[in-house]
Amino acid sequence: MAKMEVKTSLLDNMIGVGDMVLLEPLNEDSFINNLKKRFDHNEVYTYIGSVVISINPYRSLPIYTPEKVEEYRNRNFYELSPHIFALSDEAYRSLRDQDKDQCILITGESGAGKTEASKLVMSYVAAVCGKGAEVNQVKEQLLQSNPVLEAFGNAKTVRNDNSSRFGKYMDIEFDFKGDPLGGVISNYLLEKSRVVKQPRGERNFHIFYQILSGASEDFLCKLKLEQDFSRYNYLGLDSAKVNGVDDAANFRTVRNAMQIVGFMDHETQSVFEVVAAVLKLGNIEFKPESRVNGLDESKIKDKNELKEICELTGIDQSVLERAFSFRTVEAKQEKVSTTLNVAQAYYARDALAKNLYSRLFSWLVTRINESIKAQTKVRKKVMGVLDIYGFEIFEDNSFEQFIINYCNEKLQQIFIELTLKEEQEEYIREGIEWTHIEYFNNAIICDLIENNQTGILAMLDEECLRPGTVTDDTFLEKLNQVCATHQHFESRMSKCSRFLNDTSLPHSCFRIQHYAGKVMYQVEGFVDKNNDLLYRDLSQAMWKANHSLIKALFPEGNPAKINLKRPPTAGSQFKASVATLMKNLQTKNPNYIRCIKPNDKKAAHIFNDALVCHQIRYLGLLENVRVRRAGYAFRQAYEPCLERYKMLCKQTWPHWRGPARAGVEVLFNELEIPEEEFSFGRSKIFIRNPRTLFKLEDLRKQRLEDLATLIEKIYRGWKCRTRFLLMKKSQIVIASWYRRYAQQKKYQKIKSSAIIVQSYIRGWKARKLLRELKHQKRCNEAATIIAAYWHGTQARRELKRLKEEARRKHAVAVIWAYWLGLKVRREYRKFFRANAGRKIYEFTLQRLMQKYFLEMKNKMPSLSPIDKNWPARPYLFLDSTHKELKRIFHLWRCKKYRDQFTDQQKLIYEEKLEASELFKDKKALYPASVGQPFQGAYLEISKNPKYKKLKDAVDEKIIIAEVVNKINRANGKATSRIFLLTKNNVLLADQKSGNIKSEVPLGDVTKVSMSSQNDGFFAVHLKEGSGAAGKGDFLLSSDHLIEMATKLYRTTLSQTKQKLNIEISDEFLVQFRQDKVCVKFIQGSQKNGNIPTCKRKNNRLLEVAVP
Ligand SMILES: Nc1ncnc2c1ncn2[C@@H]1O[C@H](COP(=O)(O)OP(=O)(O)OP(=O)(O)O)[C@@H](O)[C@H]1O
Ligand SMILES: [Mg+2]
Repeated sequence: MAKMEVKTSLLDNMIGVGDMVLLEPLNEDSFINNLKKRFDHNEVYTYIGSVVISINPYRSLPIYTPEKVEEYRNRNFYELSPHIFALSDEAYRSLRDQDKDQCILITGESGAGKTEASKLVMSYVAAVCGKGAEVNQVKEQLLQSNPVLEAFGNAKTVRNDNSSRFGKYMDIEFDFKGDPLGGVISNYLLEKSRVVKQPRGERNFHIFYQILSGASEDFLCKLKLEQDFSRYNYLGLDSAKVNGVDDAANFRTVRNAMQIVGFMDHETQSVFEVVAAVLKLGNIEFKPESRVNGLDESKIKDKNELKEICELTGIDQSVLERAFSFRTVEAKQEKVSTTLNVAQAYYARDALAKNLYSRLFSWLVTRINESIKAQTKVRKKVMGVLDIYGFEIFEDNSFEQFIINYCNEKLQQIFIELTLKEEQEEYIREGIEWTHIEYFNNAIICDLIENNQTGILAMLDEECLRPGTVTDDTFLEKLNQVCATHQHFESRMSKCSRFLNDTSLPHSCFRIQHYAGKVMYQVEGFVDKNNDLLYRDLSQAMWKANHSLIKALFPEGNPAKINLKRPPTAGSQFKASVATLMKNLQTKNPNYIRCIKPNDKKAAHIFNDALVCHQIRYLGLLENVRVRRAGYAFRQAYEPCLERYKMLCKQTWPHWRGPARAGVEVLFNELEIPEEEFSFGRSKIFIRNPRTLFKLEDLRKQRLEDLATLIEKIYRGWKCRTRFLLMKKSQIVIASWYRRYAQQKKYQKIKSSAIIVQSYIRGWKARKLLRELKHQKRCNEAATIIAAYWHGTQARRELKRLKEEARRKHAVAVIWAYWLGLKVRREYRKFFRANAGRKIYEFTLQRLMQKYFLEMKNKMPSLSPIDKNWPARPYLFLDSTHKELKRIFHLWRCKKYRDQFTDQQKLIYEEKLEASELFKDKKALYPASVGQPFQGAYLEISKNPKYKKLKDAVDEKIIIAEVVNKINRANGKATSRIFLLTKNNVLLADQKSGNIKSEVPLGDVTKVSMSSQNDGFFAVHLKEGSGAAGKGDFLLSSDHLIEMATKLYRTTLSQTKQKLNIEISDEFLVQFRQDKVCVKFIQGSQKNGNIPTCKRKNNRLLEVAVP
């Protein structure tokens, strides 16, 4: 919203008050608060009437853009928010249109933003004044003079990184059209002491650092310089680098600017040579050397530096060396030469450096002036911009501060004079009665300083010129005598007893009550600084230099122009230049910019009340407001006033047809503003009190709100009506569309209903037709069926009749045949009676047999010997034949089966058959063995190397080789043994070693006993008295008992031709050595699973529990 508002007055959207004249109540606190409030809202500019207070924002604000320039261009001063551009515009237009020379006086303490302000003014004027190639070049030259002067005249101080160490006044000259023609710059009091010594945390002038950092090596070599700052005594090292400052880049900018301003190459070269010489001067050092007369004389320590300086400046080395050792005083044709001691030599060196530099600076200003001066002689309009140090109140104030504060007193004087003059002039112009204004006139202070007889500066000059010993103390004494009675002078030593006991005032100081506050000055150094002495020998040495610039800088060194008169003192020079400046300013219309520094930290956003308060005091800003408000606080031309407030009165709102003044009169009458509160001038209305203005503003605001409400009301009404009409129109459109839609829908519905009804009717009709057709069809069918039935009945009747007829015919035939047969049999019976019965019987029998065999052939069972199937017997009389046939068939197929066997298979089956004969139905173990093939050699003795010995011992064919358990006769426990059966022997061998334990020839085996149960125990009984029987019978157990017993039986039979007795009994006797032990098999428990266990019960009984 705020953006859309068009500003017509400074009073619009004010933060605090934009013009301090309107401050109510007016006091220091409200003044500071107003500044602070505005500062916090980024409003760094505030007016006191036409004076601009500028607070340094210490950051770049977006208020200096080309758009802003356009915004302020050609607008009235009070039309927009306070801005330095408004002041610049006002000044420029006044210069261009009213032919009034202008001056812009910018004051404030170090770092308050004076130089920046002056640049802003210049850039604004450059932006709004005429254009064209020539004009642009002038503008460019004027603007580019700034970087050059800043490089040589500015330095980093604790207060400001780019502090101007000189005062500057620049006149910009314009032609009648307002196009710039050129300019003239005046410089004031360069702080030259900085060349040789800088306070802590500060630097020398920028140019020294710029050369060393930015110049090419070649160039530095030419200048006999080195890049290293620390090589130079004159460069303060503790802050050689400044944050955010690029010295090298700045050097390029400066050289470029020098070129634009018009410096010739050789000039630039000379300038830098002088700068180099100054730098190198600082490196010259002295040492004392005793002389014959007993006095110390100074000598240069290292002449190398001196040599280089001389080479650089074209000075004869011996001349300069002498100038550093001697001082010649000429008086009335007499020349007296005295030697310098070391301290004096250093003083001389520094004085030379300071003079060289300050003269170089002045030369630069002159040279720039030459370039930028207007080329025509026509009358020029002038705008002066003064950027000069503001009031300075430090802890220690010296000669420089005294001079600066004097300058500020003079400026204040001008301010008062001009402000009052302007005020008065305006009153006269407007025809308003002038009332006396009470204000403090500081002329009395100016007089204290500059009075030609009794002024402090005059005293100082007098002291300096006086023969005899002159010190700062003698100067102070003099002051005490002369100025003691002055109201604004304070000193402990003065005759005036007022300050005798004032301990805050030391004896070596004096204090002046300046308009801006009391300042105490240290008297020390006043005389010296005022004298500003450079020994003549040095200036002469300089003049002799083979360097045109240096020569030009020291014209007094020319012996031809020798002037025995002392050169003017610094004080008197300054006084003179200030007087010139004042004269100059007095002829111009002043514009003031008062710069204020918000904090000591160079930081944005910080507003230090105490610091600002101090500045407000010494800038005399309150005083300023008071002077401004002395008569009428506010004035405004009739037209804008009427324009602004016309809405407050019915007659003037919305249009006043008559003259503006009459309108304002009507308006003020209507508002009943007391008559003493305002006056009507010729073109302006004057308002005495800000309160009245604020009342008007309040009324206006209120009225604006009412008007806004009215406008809003009308606007809302209009908006609602428009909206209503739009809605109505829309409603009709929607309704018509809806109706159409509804009708369409209704039509669709009717249409579909009609189709449905139609389809129902059609359906009904069709069904009706169908029904009729169906009926017709059914009638036809029924007729057909009836006809069919009828035909059927008729046919069946016919068939029945025909069948009856046929049956009768057949019966007749059968009866006939029987009858015939009977007749034949009766006839032939007498021929067949004897053998026909037997023949028929045989034939029938034969026939039946044939039939039986043919059937048998088809029903034969399979050829498997175990197939039990056999077809059933068909006739009883064939029973025995049938059984015989079955037996024969079985034998035949068994034979067939056996014929397939090989010899080996036959052998196996023989063995199996043997086993069957021996054990079937006798031993419970037998059935399990039927399916197991007999393998004989379970242990492969020949292949296992462990049994090589055993193998070798048995050379016959092994029939059985198997591990058996031999039951220990003592305890019934089992031990593993290898059981071997050969053709002739039974052998038992150790299972591990293969050693033969016993060998029994088959002839000695009498019997083998075993139980009838499901166990593998067996006893091998030996023939009594045989060789092997000594140890007794063997009681063994084997997993292949059936096979072993069978093979043992068969082998014995084939070898001995005797049948081995195999006894199957659950209790048998075994011969153990001498004893016979009964081995008894009992049905045991399942404790050990399925393994039979053997236990010795007593001497005679060994019990085997079989599961
Ligand atoms: N209007 C501004 N906007 C932004 N920064 C500013 C403005 N004015 C001043 N400054 C900042 O403050 C610094 C000091 O300003 P400037 O050099 O103008 O002070 P000065 O009053 O000339 O001080 P001195 O008396 O030491 O020369 C500038 O270098 C800049 O950084
Ligand atoms: Mg400055």
